[in-house]
Amino acid sequence: MDLTERRGNLMGKKIVVITGSPRKNGNTDRMVAAFTEQAQKNGHEVVLFNAATSNVGGCHACETCFKSGKACTYDDDFNTIAPDILEADGIVFATPTYWYSFPGQIKNVIDKLYSFCVAEKPIANKDCALIACCEEHEVEVMDSLKQPFERIAALVKWNVVGEVLVPGVLEVGAVDQTDGCAQAADLANKF
Ligand SMILES: Cc1cc2nc3c(=O)[nH]c(=O)nc-3n(C[C@H](O)[C@H](O)[C@H](O)COP(=O)(O)O)c2cc1C
Repeated sequence: MDLTERRGNLMGKKIVVITGSPRKNGNTDRMVAAFTEQAQKNGHEVVLFNAATSNVGGCHACETCFKSGKACTYDDDFNTIAPDILEADGIVFATPTYWYSFPGQIKNVIDKLYSFCVAEKPIANKDCALIACCEEHEVEVMDSLKQPFERIAALVKWNVVGEVLVPGVLEVGAVDQTDGCAQAADLANKF
């Protein structure tokens, strides 16, 4: 390993964490806090974007992405995070499960990733990860988040560094009775 490579490995990365829970300090937020703390300890910059408390509408499929100068012609909060997503070395989706799927607000952000494809922006070659939780006790409940996440990553050529899937958590703070936060912190070591 030469000096450049070593320096490269030691350099802090920019990681965008897109969260999907409207519940303040809920199970997703707790895992994101553990992830963020460890990532920052490791010298990375973490940019948080809470899709659930932001105003992001659905994709209109107008295919006029970036023609206005902004990612989405239908200007909303996606346009505030889009430049960070483009610039990031890593992307994390952190979300509860709603009806065996992504909550609508974070799904809107995912749908608007389409803008980078339409406008042929350089979106490939990022590390990515999924943090998810659900009430039911079977981890397979989160298959419907895991599968699209993995297919999206494959399509846009992102490298999946890890997935933290925590079943059996309903109430705020239930994740503290699991190893979810420890797993989320460990996930930060993979970037
Ligand atoms: C609208 C809604 C739909 C939900 N759907 C499911 C579901 O399909 N399966 C499940 O196991 N849990 C479901 N849950 C439970 C949440 O996934 C669970 O409470 C999770 O811990 C919430 O995470 P948070 O504290 O980060 O918001 C649902 C909760 C809500 C509010």
